[in-house]
This record gives sequence, C-alpha cells and structure tokens, in this order.
Amino acid sequence: MKNIIAFAGSNSKNSINKQLATYVANQINNVDIKVLDLNDFELPLYGIDYEKDHGIPDNAQNFLNQIKASDGIVLSLAEHNGAYSTVFKNLFDWMSRIDGKLWSDKPMLLMATSPGGRGGASVLQLARNTFSHLGGNIIADFSLPSFAQNFSIDGIVDANLKHELAEATSKFESAIY
Ligand SMILES: Cc1cc2nc3c(=O)[nH]c(=O)nc-3n(C[C@H](O)[C@H](O)[C@H](O)COP(=O)(O)O)c2cc1C
Repeated sequence: MKNIIAFAGSNSKNSINKQLATYVANQINNVDIKVLDLNDFELPLYGIDYEKDHGIPDNAQNFLNQIKASDGIVLSLAEHNGAYSTVFKNLFDWMSRIDGKLWSDKPMLLMATSPGGRGGASVLQLARNTFSHLGGNIIADFSLPSFAQNFSIDGIVDANLKHELAEATSKFESAIY
C-alpha cells in the first residue's frame, strides 16, 4: 500500500483548499491517506537573523519528514493576492533551508481553488513555474473556480470540471504505482 499526504496551503479552519485536497485524496485507489494541517506545524516567521540565532525550528524538519516518508503529495494552494498564503510560503521557506530539493521528486497532484472565477489560477501558475527547481514532480494540476458553486460533498458539480479532475487524479494514481 502506498502512502500519500494531502494538505492545503492554508491555515484556515474552514479551508476550502483543505476540503478539496481531502476529497481528491479520497478518490485515489489503494492508498493510505494522511491529511496534514499547517496549524499543526506552527513556525516563527522566517528571517535570516532568527535562523542564525536559533537554528531551524523542529516543525520545518517535521513537515519535511512527512514529505520524505510519502509516496505522493496532494496539495491545494490558497491564493492570497495572486500568490501563496503567508503560512504556506513561510513553511516552504523554512523547509528550503534544510533541503533545496524539498519536494523530493515525489509525484504531486497540484491544485488550487478559490471563491472566485479564476480558481487560484495565479498561485497555481506560480507553483508550476517554481516547484520544479525545488525537487517538484508535478504530475497533473487542476484549478477549481467558484468553489461554492462547483463543490459539494458528493464531489464536483460541473461535468467538464469533474471530468478534468478525474483525468488528473488518474494520472497521479498511475504515477504513484
Ligand atoms: C489576504 C487575502 C488575499 C486574497 N487574495 C485572493 C486572490 O488573489 N485571488 C483569489 O482568488 N482569492 C483571494 N482571496 C480569497 C481566498 O481565495 C479565499 O479566502 C479562500 O477561501 C482561501 O482559501 P482557503 O479557504 O483554503 O484558505 C484572498 C483572501 C485573503 C484573506
């Protein structure tokens, strides 16, 4: 049995990206899923002076260990002002100080959703452009626009988006096995 981790680039208790990542991870066959929450990996704000004075906090290594121990990553990014949420960028920066190839070549299903019609397209593009320099291995990506309209507990409402997500999920599943 393969192990995948699923998480959102968000620290919101009601994160729509966590809902999407959890839902999608549960669609993947024959895997053990661990849903991670960035709130469980609290970190000081990255700064070179903090790092010099105190070293790298344990939670950066703890999260990196979760990546390393996994066979694949389902990640859905929240978009804040066209970019990563602060909590995600902070974790990302801390982990990159330990390992420049932090994504460790693990197959990744990369997603983003937002309440608006662009579905986090900017942050998705940002990640697609940069993760490959950091050991990223993006197998498929998916953006879900207008979360409230397009997502329900039964899955994706819009038929085209549902099909697109099923294809992305299937590609990811094949890459793990
Ligand atoms: C500071 C801030 C900036 C935001 N900027 C964007 C944005 O650039 N694009 C967008 O689609 N949504 C933006 N939003 C709305 C988020 O997409 C929305 O809060 C969403 O729920 C975040 O995902 P989450 O629920 O997984 O945290 C922003 C929200 C906040 C609080």
